[in-house]
Order: sequence, then structure tokens, then C-alpha cells
Amino acid sequence: MPPNATSPDASTALPMPKDLSELFVPSMRGHLKSAFKSVMGNPTLAMINMAGGVPHPSTFPITHLRATVKSPSSHSAPHSRESTLDLAKSCRSQSTESLDELLQYGDGCGIDSYCAFLRKYTQRVHRPRYANWGVIASCGNTDAIGKTVSLFCEPGDSILVDRWTFPGALSSLASAKVLPAPVPMDDEGMIPEALDSICQTWSGSTPPRAIYLVPTGQNPTGTTMTLARRKAIYLVAQKRNLAIIEDDPYYFLQLPSAPLPSHSLRGAEHSDQVQDLVPSLLSLDTDGRVIRLDSFSKILAPNLRCGWITAPTYILDKIQILNESTILQPSGLSQGLISKLLNDAWGFDGWDAHLRELRAVYTLRRNLFIQAVDRHLAGLVEYTVPTAGMFLWMKINLGSAAADPTAMPRLLGSMKKCGVMMAPDMPFSSSAMEPAAADRYLRAAFALVDIDMFEPALKRLAQAITSVRDARSSATHLNAN
Ligand SMILES: Cc1ncc(COP(=O)(O)O)c(C=O)c1O
Repeated sequence: MPPNATSPDASTALPMPKDLSELFVPSMRGHLKSAFKSVMGNPTLAMINMAGGVPHPSTFPITHLRATVKSPSSHSAPHSRESTLDLAKSCRSQSTESLDELLQYGDGCGIDSYCAFLRKYTQRVHRPRYANWGVIASCGNTDAIGKTVSLFCEPGDSILVDRWTFPGALSSLASAKVLPAPVPMDDEGMIPEALDSICQTWSGSTPPRAIYLVPTGQNPTGTTMTLARRKAIYLVAQKRNLAIIEDDPYYFLQLPSAPLPSHSLRGAEHSDQVQDLVPSLLSLDTDGRVIRLDSFSKILAPNLRCGWITAPTYILDKIQILNESTILQPSGLSQGLISKLLNDAWGFDGWDAHLRELRAVYTLRRNLFIQAVDRHLAGLVEYTVPTAGMFLWMKINLGSAAADPTAMPRLLGSMKKCGVMMAPDMPFSSSAMEPAAADRYLRAAFALVDIDMFEPALKRLAQAITSVRDARSSATHLNAN
């Protein structure tokens, strides 16, 4: 059991989670243990432990690590003070392990101080409504998706997913030979009635046991489920006894909704406390059927390769075993740096301030991008203003060229020639069916390029769309003659 797990504590009066282990694939049921550990058991302190192939820390050449970090409000106050994080060879800091401990082999749960911060933060933000939950370290959500899916699906099984979804999840399903069952979406994400109807009319051999979804700033559609939508999806999951894999890397990037303030673009005028974010599915979960995946990729840096999974501890026990047969745990250096930053340098207040800053940065980018889209692409695209994340999902108006199945490939070719790249829709499709040419999308990410590039990028896109529309209409014209 992860060391940070809550014990069944009568004083909190929280119910125990339901036992959903019947949803596990047969190989994940029962008590799993690594073969080595089940033979060795847990060494006591009195034992002279010569069992493991563990190097002596005196052989570790890294003896000190120093990182300089920005203040959490460095975007709004560029001259605010930086701080220094020091990890020393053999002495623990305030609350973080020594370098020797961070660099040594560890179990499949993760570094204690890293998980302890994330458990406390999860309690503060999501307030799980059952006892015996915990967190476990992951190497980010891509890794966590594969592991959680493998608890509920084996080759040939299906899993319910958004009609458009994260390609990393689709490749993870493909390599596990798990079939995506697409659920229609609208402006608020997965449609609960459609989800229920798919379950009701399921005709395949094994009915799905889990839903995979991205509730906030969905990739690629940018949709964010309202509270009412989240509750409705949760009710269907209860009715149909489904586990929910809540992949939520954009949760902390919730942005104020339209109308957009054209005069003041910082978005700071809307109330922006962690408590004001749309509640997660985890926070609505009374049964313990949500496995929540969080990642530091979009809120610290992607190649730290660190995230965390929150779930009832009996589910985390399985993920611990899966970690121990694959990654063991994310790099101790990454976990140690994050732990030191969050526990010792920033604390809850600094972390909240950092996340608020990120929301202001992305609000500004989203607003400027949409203004530029309206200037250059009026009549050429349709979109819904995203209220989280970093994506604008644009339905392309190909005019009379929409009847032509080659229009989309021609558009991509034309975009290349014009010198602009955005993601086409098909890699996000969970359905094997090619959409009608009149129903095609591009995903623009407004997170990375310089804001100065928004205008030229959208001018080029307008040129590319217009050239495809014009080419088609002149072809039609020639045929008519
Ligand atoms: C919905 C979704 N899940 C997961 C990931 C990958 O996250 P990580 O870097 O934590 O593996 C992404 C990244 O684009 C994403 O959009």
C-alpha cells in the first residue's frame, strides 16, 4: 500500500470505496506481488540485508545538486526573486530526501516526500469523498494511461472513449490490442445519453468496463465538461458499473470563458482561486470508481516525466506492481527537484500562485489567438471558445470543395506550401470511419509559438483554405462548361 494512503479513519466519517475488483481483468485480480519480493518478504531493521543488487551510495558520483528556480509570480513580476534548491548527498533537507536516497533504487510508489505533497494537495483541491485513497508517482499520464487501461482491458476488449481523443491514448490502446469505442461529443465533451445508449445496446462479446476521458481542455477539441455534465457522466458510470480513467493534464489551466475582454487581456479580473475550478470527477466520486491521472508536463515541464495517480489504495497496489515490472518509479532526481520546489521553496501558496500565473499566460494567448482568428478566418472556420487548455479546434469551411474527399489532403498540402502547420483531425479519431469532407477539423495549439506569429500563421491558413476552395470552384466551373 502506498505509504501516503489514508487509513479507514472513523473520525473523518468517510465511507470505504466500493470494491470494484470484479472490473479488473482476470490477471489483475487477487493479490499480486513481485516474485522476488514474495520470496524475500520485507526485511526488518535488525536484518543484515544482502539480498538486493543495490549499489553502495558512496559510489554515486553526484554529490550535490543545485537548481535555481523562478519565483512563482515571475510572469507578472519579472524581477521577483529567484530561489535556490539544494540537494545534498547524505543529509535530508527540511522535508526532502537526501541525494543518496533520491539516487538509490526505490519501490513502485515513488519518493515519500513527493507523494506526501501531492496527497496533501489532492486533498486540498479535490477532497476525495471516500476513505483509503492515496497517490502514487507516475512517469506522466501517457505511462499512467497504459497502466490503468491494462487493469480493466485485455486484448480484444473495448474501452469507451471520446469520439476525438488524445493520440497517445489511442496508440497505447492499439499496442495493447484494446479497441476504442467512440462516444459522440458536443461542446461540453462526452455526451452522457450517448454513453448510456452505447452501453445499453452493446452487442460485442465483452461489454466495456471502463471509460477513458479528458474532462478539461480536452485534447484535441478543447472542450471542458461543466459540473452538470460531469455529474451526468458519473451517474452513467454508476448505472453501468464502469471505472472512469480521468486523464486531466489541463485541469489547472482553466481559463475564464467568453466574452473576451479586448481591453484587458490578462484574465486576472475573473476570480481565480483553485477552489473556483470546475470540480474534477474525482471530487464527485463517492464509490471510488475514478482513477485520476495528473501530470506535471503542462504545469512544470514535460521532460521531468513526472505525474501522479489518485485512486483507492487497492487499485494503487496493482499499479505499484505494474510500476515495479516496468519503470520502478520516475527518476528520483526529477521527483526530488519537484519535491524540494513544492515542499520547501513554494509550498501550497507558491504552487497556487504559479498555477494562477499559468492561467493568466494561457488566457492572454487564447484571447489574442481568437481575436486573430476572427480577423483572418471569418467565414472560413467555426469554433467554440475553449475554457481550458491550449487548443482551438476549428471546423473548416471548405465551401463547395467540401463535397470533394480529396479536399482535406489538398488543404494540408496547401498549408505546407503556405508555411503553416496545424494538426489535422484524423490522428485524433477514435473511429475507423473517415469523416465526411464537410465535417473536417484542424487543431491549433496556441501554447508554443511566439504571440507575434499568430497573425502570420492565420493569414497563411486563410490563404491555404481559400486556395482549396477556389481550386474546387474553378474545377466545378470548368466541368459545368
Ligand atoms: C490528454 C492528454 N493526456 C496525456 C498527455 C501526455 O501527458 P504526459 O506528458 O504526462 O505523458 C497529453 C499531452 O499532450 C494529453 O493531451
